[in-house]
Amino acid sequence: MSIYEMFKARGSSGFGYGSTAEEVSDGLSLRGKTILITGCNSGLGLESMRVLVLHGAKVLGTARTLEKARAACAAVGGGAVPLACELSDPGSVRACVEAVRRGGDRLDALVCNAGIMALPKLEQAHGIELQFFTNHVGHFILVTGLLDRLAEDGRVVMLSSSAHTRAPREGIRFDDLAGAKGYTPWGHYGQSKLANLLFAKELARRFAGTRQTSNAVHPGVIRTNLGRHMPSLANLVFSLVGPLVLKTVAQGAATQVHAAVHPAMATTSGAYLADCNVAVPRADADDPALARKLWEVSESIVAGLPAR
Ligand SMILES: NC(=O)c1ccc[n+]([C@@H]2O[C@H](COP(=O)([O-])OP(=O)(O)OC[C@H]3O[C@@H](n4cnc5c(N)ncnc54)[C@H](OP(=O)(O)O)[C@@H]3O)[C@@H](O)[C@H]2O)c1
Repeated sequence: MSIYEMFKARGSSGFGYGSTAEEVSDGLSLRGKTILITGCNSGLGLESMRVLVLHGAKVLGTARTLEKARAACAAVGGGAVPLACELSDPGSVRACVEAVRRGGDRLDALVCNAGIMALPKLEQAHGIELQFFTNHVGHFILVTGLLDRLAEDGRVVMLSSSAHTRAPREGIRFDDLAGAKGYTPWGHYGQSKLANLLFAKELARRFAGTRQTSNAVHPGVIRTNLGRHMPSLANLVFSLVGPLVLKTVAQGAATQVHAAVHPAMATTSGAYLADCNVAVPRADADDPALARKLWEVSESIVAGLPAR
């Protein structure tokens, strides 16, 4: 148990900082449910997939390559179907969309979990800063391509982060999505995570009047492969003090699993969740005009990408 966990009370959901993915799904049968999760081969994605499969869900587990997805799905036993989805490659994302459509499944939940963090130097895909492209644009193509496969009461869960607060003051730098005018690893990670949050909220507005829901999640701070680009000193400090102050992977996966399958979450939409409870994001995450603009700009980015 981390020191922090000892002092954090549970929220109104009955769960909290110390809850694990197994605990928040305890007693649920997910037989007959199909859930797609991106980034299934590592960290929170792998743990979420393991727990969802444990409860009988059919999980469509995506990874950058089919080999990685196959290995991860094999590791959690039966019930997981591997798919390739390299989020920085629109052709790969579209092929994943087609594969899901061919499979004919109705999706009960789409968990957009994959992500990269704080790349030390500016990298781009299709002229767009790579964290924004991978974390936001890739998922935008995936989710919008599968909206008509979402069940009537289907749920979209976007992995955001408390680091969305590190996005630029103006929110999204629409005039420099290439990142060319001044790249910072955390500022651009924050921008991509604010985009995940705005996307979840805009989607919730578009779902209004239906039983479909869309929420964004901050999973907590957990030592995973996400920190691969952090300086080695920071990684050393994390490995030493991590067990005392950080969530475990089992705890980190709880909020997204709760959002994806818990019956109590059936009518929660447009929320930002942390520790399995509704939390308050930074103010402009609730700006509908900003969210709408992000949606429209994302559509025009996607329209300009190669078809294959
Ligand atoms: N860990 C934390 O403290 C924390 C805090 C706040 C938010 N989050 C968010 O939680 C999510 C999961 O992170 P994690 O901690 O579980 O990290 P992780 O262990 O590094 O897992 C990230 C997953 O995303 C995949 N991925 C990365 N780039 C991709 C791409 N271009 N196309 C397809 N898949 C790609 C990775 O695949 P490879 O293994 O092949 O690279 C991996 O499966 C992320 O969205 C992250 O921003 C995490």
